[in-house]
Amino acid sequence: MSMDTPYLTLVNRAHPLARRPAPEELVPALPGFPGVLLLRPAARALRALLADIGAGEAIVPVSGWRSREEQEALWEGSLRDHGLAFTETYVARPGCSEHETGLAIDLGENVPGLDFIRPSFPDHGICGRFRARAADFGFLLRYPRGKEAVTGIGWEPWHFRYVGTPWAREIAGRGLTLEEYLHEA
Ligand code: DAL
Ligand code: ZN
Repeated sequence: MSMDTPYLTLVNRAHPLARRPAPEELVPALPGFPGVLLLRPAARALRALLADIGAGEAIVPVSGWRSREEQEALWEGSLRDHGLAFTETYVARPGCSEHETGLAIDLGENVPGLDFIRPSFPDHGICGRFRARAADFGFLLRYPRGKEAVTGIGWEPWHFRYVGTPWAREIAGRGLTLEEYLHEA
């Protein structure tokens, strides 16, 4: 399958962000959430997926695009509040976060008091239905359980990464991470 797509870009600790999105490329992930931005194709796919599963307001976008400065503040705040081990597990280093690409979204079930770094996104119910259909709309569960040593990040059931439909189906269907698919593991 062709690798000639901007949506397969690999961003992790070994591969810092190469290109920041321009402001005009970013749109609200969902209507009613003007502060949670994504690149336009990712937002379009997210809306289609949520409509397909009839999510209504049961799933909320918690964090989408982050500026380098926002990622820095998140990293520093987490270090202060939770320490290095937690922070390295659940927060990417500034300049090395997929959130800086505009292609990653953290989602949570719509319950009071959602955590910003680790929102609740259970396996069952509407969140489970989202996960089951994600690849058909171009999204990967980017940090699966059991692949922590490959991704360098802990299991994050709430973090989805847009790569486009043919690639998401292929990568998820083969049970790979983006690192493994791109032979960067
Ligand atoms: N939570 C993910 C790893 C990030 O901060 O980009
Ligand atoms: Zn995330």
